[in-house]
Amino acid sequence: MMATSTVKFQAPSETSYDRNTELKAFDDTKSGVKGLVDAGVTKIPPIFINHKHAQPHQKPYTQLGDFSGTKQGTIPVIDLDGVHRDATKRREIIGEVLEACEKWGFFQIVNHGIPACVLDEMIDGIRRFHEQDTEEKKKWYTRDVKRKVMFASNFLLYTSPAADWRDTISCSMAPNPPDRDELPEICSDIMIDYSKQVMRLGDTVFELISEALGLNPNHLKDMDCAKQLYLFGHYYPACPEPELTLGGRSHSDGNFLTILLQDQIGGLQVHHENQWVDVPPMRGALVVNIGDLLQLVSNDKVKSVYHRVLARDVGPRISVASFFLPFWRGNSSRVYGPIKELISEESPQIYHETSIKDYQSHYTSKGHDGVSSLLHLKL
Ligand code: OGA
Ligand code: NI
Repeated sequence: MMATSTVKFQAPSETSYDRNTELKAFDDTKSGVKGLVDAGVTKIPPIFINHKHAQPHQKPYTQLGDFSGTKQGTIPVIDLDGVHRDATKRREIIGEVLEACEKWGFFQIVNHGIPACVLDEMIDGIRRFHEQDTEEKKKWYTRDVKRKVMFASNFLLYTSPAADWRDTISCSMAPNPPDRDELPEICSDIMIDYSKQVMRLGDTVFELISEALGLNPNHLKDMDCAKQLYLFGHYYPACPEPELTLGGRSHSDGNFLTILLQDQIGGLQVHHENQWVDVPPMRGALVVNIGDLLQLVSNDKVKSVYHRVLARDVGPRISVASFFLPFWRGNSSRVYGPIKELISEESPQIYHETSIKDYQSHYTSKGHDGVSSLLHLKL
């Protein structure tokens, strides 16, 4: 299956080199994109060239600190202060969450209860992991999904049309957290601490979205939407030819919800009203975005939108994505479909139900091809 999808994506003009061999050689270095940068490359290898994105006269990306809004507006920022103790404030917040989920699929939250020092240390921990001694780091490099901690460059390396300019360490942190000594020591404490705090915050966000949809506050949690937490620690090295590739190509997330922590470098953009809009870094804030599965169960009331990360000539950029996923290792035959309470005569059911197993194998095998993972589920 892997071979056919690779052939499908091969650019016709590039028969002179064997993309698969190049991918394999890169993968075998186990040093990722950071390894290329450390070796001093001044041109990016062809496997990273994003033909769809690369434009010779592309406008350079906004300068650091110049994250002014566009005419499309800016990503909503929602202040969660008082959400647990002030009923009036909570109602206001729920209104803002509803509008953000319907219009943008993305919002930032402040006063969310996770101290800024924990956020800083989480970013630092991921930096330490990626910047440690290469030989030590290589021990974690794997594509074996049975390994608890996976470090790799591009989890979809062999099935994507172009590789992304980034490396990632990932681990499932709930409901069965790894033992401390199963994690890289250099960041184990903060991974465990941050995960606990982000799980608590995830509960709150799922309550708010449930209420925004007019459901009982526990509705989404009771469907196990907040049960599994998968952490991705991304490292985007500075890129010598940023206009030819992307840090993360355009995709929508195939989960219920993502809570994203980003550092001050910037580069994340959201597709909104046919334009790419920056998600400006805000110290202490977290970015929340709706995933495809939440769009599915909400019967399109909330939107999962495309987003991407630009490659930059400055860096590294570090981000930590907390994915809330169905706990499919427990019961992969479990099915999800539009919530009955959200279906009515005015709002008829849009999607088939799907088992998590089928959904996930579809999402993975299609790669990030720019087509929504929900399309094939439309009734
Ligand atoms: C992701 C993602 C954005 C970022 O991990 O799905 O979109 O800023 N990350 O790293
Ligand atoms: Ni994403």
